[in-house]
Formats: sequence, structure tokens, C-alpha cells
Amino acid sequence: MCNNDVISELKYVQKQFLCAVPIQRINWKNIFDNFDWKLQEYLISRTVNLTIVLKYPIQISYQKSFLKYLINRLEKNSALRPSDCLYDAFGRVVALRDINPCFKHYFLENEKILSLKENSNFISEGTTGLCSWQASLALSEWCLANTDFFKGKVVLELGSGVGLTGIILALCKAKHIFLTDCHPSVLQVLEENVHLNSELISTETNNIQILKLQWEDIGSNNNLPSVDILIAADVVYDSSLFPFLLNVILHFFKVGTKTFIVACTERNASTLQEFLLLLESNCIRHEELTNCPQHNFLWSTESPIKIFLCTLNRHFAYYPTTVTFNIGIYLQ
Ligand SMILES: C[S@@+](CC[C@H](N)C(=O)[O-])C[C@H]1O[C@@H](n2cnc3c(N)ncnc32)[C@H](O)[C@@H]1O
Repeated sequence: MCNNDVISELKYVQKQFLCAVPIQRINWKNIFDNFDWKLQEYLISRTVNLTIVLKYPIQISYQKSFLKYLINRLEKNSALRPSDCLYDAFGRVVALRDINPCFKHYFLENEKILSLKENSNFISEGTTGLCSWQASLALSEWCLANTDFFKGKVVLELGSGVGLTGIILALCKAKHIFLTDCHPSVLQVLEENVHLNSELISTETNNIQILKLQWEDIGSNNNLPSVDILIAADVVYDSSLFPFLLNVILHFFKVGTKTFIVACTERNASTLQEFLLLLESNCIRHEELTNCPQHNFLWSTESPIKIFLCTLNRHFAYYPTTVTFNIGIYLQ
């Protein structure tokens, strides 16, 4: 293998470490074929010892497991030995205490790093919004592969969570971005994450604004902007919320939104089907988009992730009503 191949394999391991891909799922490529001290130093300096990781730490227990795995693999290999820098890094990390929230870093194809404060648990403080979900990774990849779709547009995201897709929209040169959520801790972290990535954000994005938007309150919330595109990732999981979510979507279509893009993890095919049927019965048609290859982001394909482009069909008319279902009706 030539030096460039070795470096690109090490970079791929680095990318997985930075966004904390579970150790058992890391693809180590062929790095253990000839993992000499120089290459070990290269990897350590770009993972646990990387300046951004020292400043904004990835979950400490994850870092320990990563180093432990490397040391074990090298100790078992009679032709190789762990380097002093590997032991030194392990000694340093082992003395650290885990804190939550910690950080994840997304190493993009353009070699820039997007850093997010995220909780390592899927649910914390009673919300699912404090970590990035797989659907937001797939949707962010789709956005980066389709930047022209967002360039110069006003976009609003529902249920933004820690803000991955929202910040990616700024890389796509959306003109104005509204990130919304309902939970106070999520809104706080969202604000911090936008600030943390301010250098990445395109100068063509005039503004990223964070708004509190609880779907249940849509009727009383009259200060919502009109936007070109509505977007959301992993908001279709609890059917008791569907009527409220539908109301929000219909509200935006009514005030001029042309497109709603939603990425869904299909944990339960019937739940997703129920949501799509609800859209259909309210004059919103959907078209499934093709998922993009994992270039910038890495996500698990254990449960399928489906991205839909939703638009109003021509029969739509909007009648404000107190009934939450079937606000849009067919014109005969
Ligand atoms: C599974 S998380 C997805 C977060 C983010 N979009 C992602 O994919 O990483 C669902 C998000 O929807 C928000 N959410 C849930 N119910 C909501 C409601 N009734 N009104 C507004 N936001 C809600 C949560 O706070 C959370 O941020």
C-alpha cells in the first residue's frame, strides 16, 4: 500500500472517532497491517490529541475504549507494539472524568470540522433533542449533495435538536435559516452550537434565527415567518403528535411554503405509513428521494432512513378550523 492509501485509511478512522462511531462498528480498514510508531503517532495526534478534541471533548469513556482497543490489538500482534504516545494518551485520558453533554465532531469532505455539543444518551432531561439522530445525518448528506436546492432560500427546520441539519443548511448558502424546537435545554444547546460553528457559516447566509416552536401551539403562535422550504429530521415517531405536526405543516403551506422535506427513520413501518396517509388525506403528496452515499456523514443503516419531498397537490384549500385533522380538504 502506498503512503497516500495509508493516510486516507487513517483519516477514515479519524472521521469515525471524531463523531464517536461505536467502537464495535468502526471500520479499521487495513491500518493494522503495518501500524508502525510513526503511523500510530499520526493517528493519536489527529484523534484524542487533536486540539479541537482537547478543547471540546468527545465522551471520555468513548476515548478510553478507542485507545484500549488500539493497545489491545497492537499488544496481541507479535510484529507490532503500541508506541509510547499511545500509552501516554491512555494515561492522560484514563485520569479524566466523563461529563455530559460532551461533543461530537463531523469531519466534512472539504476537511472542515463541524462541532456539536451533544448528549451521549438518546434521551436526557426528558427530551430526545439533545443528540443528533441518524435521520439528521442522512438528511444533512442529502442537503450537501443538493446545495442548489437551498441556495438563497428561506428555510425553517422543525424539531432542530442540537442543530446539525440547520447548520448544514448554512453551508448550502440558504439565505435565512430558522431553527425551531420546544424544549428549553435543546434551545439553549442549539444556540451554543450555532455560535460554536459561526466560522463555518457561509457569508451568504444572512441570519440563523432560533425560535421556540411547540407544534401544539401553532394556532396561538401568530409570529411565524413565511418560508420557502420547511425541513425536518426524525420527527415522525409518535403518532399522538401527528395531528399537531400536520397542523404546523399545513400552516406553512398556507402562508406560501412550497416544499417540505422530511427524513424519517423507519423504526416501525406502520407508524411511518400512518403519517404518510395522513399527509395524503390532507392533500399533501410525497415522493421518496434517493439517499446519498455516506461521504460527509456516517450513519447506521440498521433501520432504513427514508427522505420524502412533500408538496401540496392542486386540490388543496385551507379552511381555518378548530378541528386538528383534515384541515386541508379536496375541492370537487
Ligand atoms: C428525535 S429528535 C430529532 C432531533 C433532530 N432533528 C435530529 O434528527 O437530530 C425530535 C425533536 O423534535 C422535538 N419535538 C418533539 N415534540 C415536539 C413538539 N411537540 N413540538 C416541537 N418540537 C418537538 C424534540 O425536542 C426533538 O428536538
